[in-house]
Amino acid sequence: MANSIFDQYTKKRLVITKNKKVLQTTYVPNALPHRVEQIDHIAAIASAALNGDQPSNIMIYGKTGTGKTAVLNYIGNELKKADEYEERCKYIYVNCEVVDTPYSVLYNIGNQIIVEDSRRIPFTGWSFEKVYYEIVNYLNTMNKVFLVVLDEVDRLIDKKGDNVFYFLAKINENLKSSKVSLIGISNNMNFMNVLEPKARSRMGGESIIFPPYTKEELEDILRERVKEAFDNDVIDDSVISYCSAIAAKSDGDARVAIDLLKTAADIAERNGDSIVTEAHVKSAKNSLEFNLISEAIKTLPSHEKIVLISIIKNHDAGINNMTTGDVYKTYTSICNTIGVTPLTQRRVGDLINELDTYGIVTASVCSFGRAGRTKVIDLTIDKSIINEFKNTNSIFKMIDAVKPPKQTHLI
Ligand SMILES: Nc1ncnc2c1ncn2[C@@H]1O[C@H](COP(=O)(O)OP(=O)(O)OP(=O)(O)O)[C@@H](O)[C@H]1O
Ligand SMILES: [Mg+2]
Repeated sequence: MANSIFDQYTKKRLVITKNKKVLQTTYVPNALPHRVEQIDHIAAIASAALNGDQPSNIMIYGKTGTGKTAVLNYIGNELKKADEYEERCKYIYVNCEVVDTPYSVLYNIGNQIIVEDSRRIPFTGWSFEKVYYEIVNYLNTMNKVFLVVLDEVDRLIDKKGDNVFYFLAKINENLKSSKVSLIGISNNMNFMNVLEPKARSRMGGESIIFPPYTKEELEDILRERVKEAFDNDVIDDSVISYCSAIAAKSDGDARVAIDLLKTAADIAERNGDSIVTEAHVKSAKNSLEFNLISEAIKTLPSHEKIVLISIIKNHDAGINNMTTGDVYKTYTSICNTIGVTPLTQRRVGDLINELDTYGIVTASVCSFGRAGRTKVIDLTIDKSIINEFKNTNSIFKMIDAVKPPKQTHLI
């Protein structure tokens, strides 16, 4: 083989991950430690479908990474196994983060049910009601129980998705022999209160909570993954407890724990190391945080970006403890320079608070004697992230001439 520029990396790269798939987000593990209670509860309700009866509707709540999607995938697989011969029920999964309009939800559900090509629902061109009645008519030619899982269902609400909820929840009134049950999954405990009352009362049913995982629970989850993904002795036990500690702090999110493990193993492989250590996890943490924050910055709405740019500009000019007024002066000069109508100072204050909740800046209220209480703003993100933002955002090139204000003296 001829020499190439890649040699230095491919030769150095040791493969220490036995099965990479196990660490991917799409992997459905065979066992889900610490979700036995939730699985049993859902199975007890859904089992009615195996007798041809209609299970109650279910709402599932839990923060991100608490295993909601994984558990429902697992239930779907188990249901298929239990129903292999009788075929009394069908499990239908819709991810509303992707399928996010009322029409596309019905389109997606319909085409998972309808098998004949000639009767399939077209991608566009029909009204919502026409699709709904087509599904009703089709279901009336069958005698089955349909379990419809709407994952990330809160995504539908601001797109008039109440409609879908209402229609799906009342669909049984139009059905003769088939039955439909709904399982909604949401991050937002308040979801039912956001629904229109008529949809809420139709939904009814039971709520099941997925609590955040504790550090010890995350350790058990990781230990299972490690067994499948790596040979013995490649991963130090301290790695498992370190990843779990970080993820436990991050709202008990199992996805964070698994991502850290995967990234740490990638870094070890790239370095040519033969085992994964705590130091690799530290680098993984930094690299994941970098990606997360720079992604968050890239997707900020435009005024929020200008506010952040103003804070950076002031910071570069040596103003460290800046007030909202200091930020506002720079913000209005930038808006004037680039031809954007500025928002009010009060609104800019709100945007600064939002940047604070994302962890991009800190805005802490301080007391300054006679000057009273005021907010002091500072940048919290890493220099490398600021530099990347400066290099990729075109506004920076347009505002060289903008002079930061003389700093307000607080005392
Ligand atoms: N009890 C568990 N055992 C093993 N793996 C788990 C467990 N819980 C979650 N995971 C894994 O953690 C990751 C995140 O889980 P999942 O996608 O189910 O979270 P979620 O609650 O649906 O989060 P989101 O609200 O962000 O969609 C997945 O890779 C999943 O396989
Ligand atoms: Mg999910």
